[in-house]
Amino acid sequence: MSAPARALELAGASVLVFEDAASACRHAADRIAGVIRDAVGLRGKAVLGLATGGTPIPIYDRLVALYQAGELSFADVSTYNLDEYYPIHPSDPNSYRAYMHRHLFGRVDIAPNRAHVLDGTVPDSFADAHAAEFDRWIAADGGLDLQLLGIGRNGHIGFNEPTNLPLETALNLPTRLVDLHPVTVADAAKDFGGESRVVPRALTVGVAPILAARSILILALGAGKAEAVTRALTGPMTPSLPASLLQSAPGRVTWMLDAAAARGLG
Ligand code: GLP
Repeated sequence: MSAPARALELAGASVLVFEDAASACRHAADRIAGVIRDAVGLRGKAVLGLATGGTPIPIYDRLVALYQAGELSFADVSTYNLDEYYPIHPSDPNSYRAYMHRHLFGRVDIAPNRAHVLDGTVPDSFADAHAAEFDRWIAADGGLDLQLLGIGRNGHIGFNEPTNLPLETALNLPTRLVDLHPVTVADAAKDFGGESRVVPRALTVGVAPILAARSILILALGAGKAEAVTRALTGPMTPSLPASLLQSAPGRVTWMLDAAAARGLG
């Protein structure tokens, strides 16, 4: 396993800094594979919360490679994705359902009824009910062994965007329908072919169910994430930077960074 160049303890989290993005992703995939093997060995199943975006693609590639080599199986794994645009058809290439099929579900032995993504086609008036049901599915499955996260440039996790809510309220946010933040819309414009074409709402797993995971692995790669990373790990816990709310889960959070994303950490 590619060793981290530096290991720090910050804000109750373990922070591993790697020389480059490829090493960070390889380490992350090996950590996830270890969690799957341990949980399946102990309880007969593993339950993962998964993320999308550019960051996890090499992680999924490595998990697929382990599966193809006969070293890892998803037969006893359930997954719950963090978010989905709303409304969106699952066959839209920008849907996270399509992303997950492309990068993981369509390439490993996971059962279709164990690979869960929030449904971008539910009626508007039932979106909150669907979101609440997703939280019940996770709880009924025994909770998440590991939640994988990326981070937005504005510090969002999933699509939990910056807010000025009171801290207690922000920590208890459930899975729900949200409006995307302007920075998120700007960042998604490349995928949708322009800002005006970005689907402006999304379903997101809430802060509370993320924080309830037995372990949380958050990846941040590249200089564009450095400011959000520095604030999340060295600043106060604030709903204006949702990743800082991970400070409320001391001992359960691991950050994996490349050198560029870690440059503000001294
Ligand atoms: C999207 C996703 C997030 C993800 C973030 C960062 O907004 N909803 O879950 O962490 O983008 O994406 P990237 O990894 O492409 O920088």
